[in-house]
Amino acid sequence: MTTPVEWIERVESTNVELVRRERIAPQPHFTVLATLDQTSGRGRLGRTWSAAPGAALAVSVLVRPESIPPDRLGLLTLLAGLAARDSVAALLPGRPVSVKWPNDVLVAGRKIVGVLAEVEPRTGAVVVGAGINTAMTQAQLPVPTATSLAIESGEQAEPRELADRVLTGFLARLADLVERFEAARGDIDASGIRAELEAACGTLGERVSVQLPGGTRIAGTALGIGPDGSLSLRVDGSEHPTAILAGDVTHLRYQ
Ligand code: BTN
Repeated sequence: MTTPVEWIERVESTNVELVRRERIAPQPHFTVLATLDQTSGRGRLGRTWSAAPGAALAVSVLVRPESIPPDRLGLLTLLAGLAARDSVAALLPGRPVSVKWPNDVLVAGRKIVGVLAEVEPRTGAVVVGAGINTAMTQAQLPVPTATSLAIESGEQAEPRELADRVLTGFLARLADLVERFEAARGDIDASGIRAELEAACGTLGERVSVQLPGGTRIAGTALGIGPDGSLSLRVDGSEHPTAILAGDVTHLRYQ
């Protein structure tokens, strides 16, 4: 079944707009808002997320959890990263597309997708947003370490056509993952999702530097993803793995 998508000509932020609507009246599960012109996008860790009109897809999906315990809701962002990875990979055959823990999507080390989830505390709905660089040209890249579908494929597709293609794959995969996650009551092992996350995660096996929420930086080798979605890290000089629940990861080989 294809998911209905509401396309908006221009919006400040698809996440903000969907949260705003949810506050006014509860929105149906899997309501989808999308635009090619997001004027004030929000990024992780209080950063901004910007793209020239037509250069990137901004999409937000409302998930209304039924049987997922509150302490497992954060895992939805990992599911969104995996869904985006698979959708991008299907359009770039032969290119190395992977997830950088927790939910960035990289092509050969360059970022093509960012994910940000926000919870509406009153209703408990989660708005999962993804920014996907679609028709973005080299000159439009926000940072030199970013990339886009157009750059990676070398194809000159219409912005809306490119966005439709990646969005269709993203929504189908996300719907499947959310359904299995719900059915397993938020258990990524029982649902089989943890194995899929690990297979798609290019961070594993890499030497990484992690900036923790307090600002401290640690370096080590990424070993795996825990049942709670954490990154298991063998910190340099330590024998035992440490579970990282939140942090900003840098893959040291791309430094
Ligand atoms: C990141 O910092 O990597 C996360 C970026 C998330 C951007 C997306 S675009 C759609 C949705 N609306 C927003 O304002 N942000 C997210």
